[in-house]
Amino acid sequence: VVRHSNLITPTSTGELQRWVVGGEGGWEPRTGVLVFEYEQWLAGRSRHAFVLALHELMMSVTVPDAPEVIINVPNYRGSSFVSLLSWIVTTRLASAHATIFWRPEHPRLLGYIKSRLEKLGWKLESRRRGKVVELVGQLPEPHPPPKARRLVTQIEGRDVEFIADFGVFSADRIDAGTLALFEVALRGPSVKTLADIGTGYGYLAIGLILSGKAHRAISTEVDSVALWLAGLNARAAGVSLALAFEPRPDMVEPTELTVCNIPTHLEANKSRQLTLGLIRRANIARVLAVVHASLEGRYAKHFETQTLSVQRYHIYSHVVFDVFPA
Ligand SMILES: C[S@@+](CC[C@H](N)C(=O)[O-])C[C@H]1O[C@@H](n2cnc3c(N)ncnc32)[C@H](O)[C@@H]1O
Repeated sequence: VVRHSNLITPTSTGELQRWVVGGEGGWEPRTGVLVFEYEQWLAGRSRHAFVLALHELMMSVTVPDAPEVIINVPNYRGSSFVSLLSWIVTTRLASAHATIFWRPEHPRLLGYIKSRLEKLGWKLESRRRGKVVELVGQLPEPHPPPKARRLVTQIEGRDVEFIADFGVFSADRIDAGTLALFEVALRGPSVKTLADIGTGYGYLAIGLILSGKAHRAISTEVDSVALWLAGLNARAAGVSLALAFEPRPDMVEPTELTVCNIPTHLEANKSRQLTLGLIRRANIARVLAVVHASLEGRYAKHFETQTLSVQRYHIYSHVVFDVFPA
């Protein structure tokens, strides 16, 4: 195992002993860590682990397999995520005869995960070790990936399909705030590049390119699963989308337009970092940001500074802030 630009990379002389998928922990040597969220990725990087985000694995990277895989199953990404993990482990991470440990985030999900996996051909034994409840078994026969949920919407008179599943924001329908922001962006000038901060499954970035409002886009996310879906959706729509696994809006290149359907349930310090990044971008070029109308006062206070001009548009139950250098 050699140190390579802050990552431990497995080489032919030091094969991987295990993969740990999702969740915390597993930072031992010769362990690969596959993460779903930026915080987990950062924790792994700071411990010099061999850490990879799900979108990287799915979009571009081939990795060595290992004789042991531990899977921490998150509790909010829906049932098809278990099937997706099963498919990833079976086809990408586990070597033949590997031992696989499934650990639900909540022990009460054990039975449900077991029955889901058994339908895919897994034979599993339930075990309790101290506080850890787990399912243990060998790999089943290969099975196809799950069919992820999709939604179809009209953009510029044509049907566009988005894969929207695995606990991503507003998977059932395009969110009213998203549509409000989209409407305001359509009234504005076209740009070469736009940044979509917190892109989700990519509706704003992809939709605005398809509408001729941008030539290309950069999408940021802290949720690697969402970022992967945005990448898949962009590919299917035939548009040029760069993916950035990045919590700070000001860390991606300046663009003529930035859009953001603001995530409003963040911890205070993360919310501050995000808002500050949007303000920094707005000091360079136009930012369109949307929140529910009930939060108008709070965000107006952030954006209405001496160096910025702000217009507000009230659409549906939302307010879109059009913020640009004064
Ligand atoms: C309200 S949703 C909007 C999703 C998408 N733009 C849409 O309109 O459907 C906010 C998204 O921001 C993501 N997010 C949260 N904090 C972030 C950050 N610091 N940087 C980038 N994305 C973030 C969340 O994972 C979530 O997908």
